[in-house]
Amino acid sequence: MDNHIHPTIFKISKKQRSEKLNQTPRLLWFTGLSGSGKSTLANAVESRLFEEGYHTYLLDGDNVRTGLNNDLGFSDEDRIENIRRISEVSKLMMDSGIIVLSAFISPFQKDRELISNLVGEDNYIEIFVDCPIEVCEARDVKGLYAKARKGLIKDFTGIDSPYEEPTNPFLHIHSDREKLNFSVDQIINAVKEKLSF
Ligand code: ADX
Repeated sequence: MDNHIHPTIFKISKKQRSEKLNQTPRLLWFTGLSGSGKSTLANAVESRLFEEGYHTYLLDGDNVRTGLNNDLGFSDEDRIENIRRISEVSKLMMDSGIIVLSAFISPFQKDRELISNLVGEDNYIEIFVDCPIEVCEARDVKGLYAKARKGLIKDFTGIDSPYEEPTNPFLHIHSDREKLNFSVDQIINAVKEKLSF
């Protein structure tokens, strides 16, 4: 179907941008329950990469939802749209040569497959931040689990909205029993080779 849209061919290629930054842009995608430690871990990994001279950017659930996606809620449809937009933004950032870290619950397997297809399987590095819901709920850093149990928040992931665990993540982090620095080291060691130009 002709939708009368004709994308411009850019003079500067992704490869040229990557070469200039001396890195291969990839997408580190952190998925897991609310309170599982995704943001903390993604932040710590980004800091380490940044210190080592990589050019990075971190996209995070609560932040993106207060800006670009502030029109979206937590129905299945809205979560799908949330992840679709974020994956497109991640792809644009990667086109600019940046290593992107994205930390979103991203509860649906099908949507995570779409991200992988969009950015390319080789570029999609899935990190499952695995923490039992009992532990997330006991921590309840934002007080949201208590509210969800009282019925004050609907469609809460793990309570009355599903979380489909990744079946074959690149890395499986057990954030309830691993020290943060250990998990960071594990991720850095596993991805470093993939980030060099
Ligand atoms: S996703 O499911 O669409 O990927 P996202 O990561 O953007 O979710 O946002 C999750 C954050 O929104 C949670 O960490 C929490 O702070 C907040 N939140 C508010 N309502 C809900 C809800 N119903 N389910 C899960 N998280 C919620």
